[in-house]
Amino acid sequence: MNQPQLHIHPVERLWIIISFSMLGLFAVAVLTAGFAYGFQLPVPEDRLVDPNLVATPGATAFGEPGLRELSPGVMEARILAQAWAFTPKEIKVVVGTKVTFYVTSKDVQHGFDLSGSNINFMVLPGQISKLSTTFTTPGTYDFYCHEYCGVGHQTMFGQVIVTEK
Ligand code: CUA
Repeated sequence: MNQPQLHIHPVERLWIIISFSMLGLFAVAVLTAGFAYGFQLPVPEDRLVDPNLVATPGATAFGEPGLRELSPGVMEARILAQAWAFTPKEIKVVVGTKVTFYVTSKDVQHGFDLSGSNINFMVLPGQISKLSTTFTTPGTYDFYCHEYCGVGHQTMFGQVIVTEK
């Protein structure tokens, strides 16, 4: 006795194949972005920073924001976002430097997108966002706020200037 056969219309079979092929393609794209292009998930570094105290000198590392050298060629940048400016607005490093950005907000939700890099995260009061990049090419890299934060949102930007050694 023959088992009953499930009949799939040829067009439906084609669409099943296309659908699963696309899933496979997306999986390959995500894995390629992660392993070949250094895609980074913005993981919050700290969720316990008090936005009311964050800019107070001595209370947190954001009291005196800016660049700090950790070792030769490795720096950290603490940037404070506040309507409607980043402090500091300009950072200068030499080419080849690895910079880890720590950004938090004193007031409302902001964003931080560093053009020409894989750094792009939201900046929330009470949370420190952290991502790293190595500047391999001299030039000027703009960063800007990409979350609407009020009437001065479009003035909220700054620059990383990467110079020759
Ligand atoms: Cu800060 Cu938009």
